[in-house]
Amino acid sequence: MTATLDKDTDTETQAGAIPSFEVTIKVRRFIPENSDEPYWEQHTLTMYGTDRVLDALHKIKWETDGTLTFRRSCAHGICGSDAIRINGRNRLACKTLLKDLNPDKGPIIVEPIKGLPVVKDLIVDMEPFFASYREIMPFLITSGNQPSKERIQSAEQRERFDDTTKCILCAACTSSCPVFWTDGQYFGPAAIVNAHRFIFDSRDEGATQRLEILNDKEGVWRCRTTFNCTEACPRGIEVTKAIQEVKRAMIRRAF
Ligand code: SF4
Ligand code: F3S
Ligand code: FES
Repeated sequence: MTATLDKDTDTETQAGAIPSFEVTIKVRRFIPENSDEPYWEQHTLTMYGTDRVLDALHKIKWETDGTLTFRRSCAHGICGSDAIRINGRNRLACKTLLKDLNPDKGPIIVEPIKGLPVVKDLIVDMEPFFASYREIMPFLITSGNQPSKERIQSAEQRERFDDTTKCILCAACTSSCPVFWTDGQYFGPAAIVNAHRFIFDSRDEGATQRLEILNDKEGVWRCRTTFNCTEACPRGIEVTKAIQEVKRAMIRRAF
């Protein structure tokens, strides 16, 4: 941190002022109307200790360059719309504090997530990602017998798939997977996580169908256990473990 975080900090804090610091953000821009080539643009901003990367992007957009384009909605780590690549790692812009990125050591590099077509600046086309998600049928499948009240499930049965219910479909996992980068054909970890959420749900009857779908040549067997997905997940889901569990379920059913 620079300037106001040094010896003036105590005085400012005592006086009730929030210490500020300088941060340089280097954003990868791509504006297809202007050029086929992406380019880098740098902004130096005065920010504060509780500010996140999303706050810096807002500041650029609202005060300097209204053409900067990115997705966000909730700003609180819930909607999953602002996954971007920050200093080479996939993160949610709204959950990443600027001060944790050592802004005094150099610019913070901000890019779109990899492996999906860039539409403009930090916005990628999520359709290939959601196509895989739709394919694994992310809904409860039952064979009729509509109950007159809730479908009973024990706490232990619910616990079996609790981790994978936390997914917010941000694509940080899939777009950090080197297998997905190669050709974009692999289902990707997010689709498998969401299949896991239903395969291990005691109320669901579609496990066999989902396992058949993921037994495809672009399915779970393409995973090379790289763990990038687990490291990238902002919800702390054990993504690679979930993929291994789906593989084991397939072996047990001898597909
Ligand atoms: Fe995002 Fe994690 Fe879901 Fe992947 S598993 S889409 S990283 S929340
Ligand atoms: Fe990719 Fe995760 Fe497997 S990064 S290779 S899906 S462990
Ligand atoms: Fe919703 Fe970041 S804006 S998760």
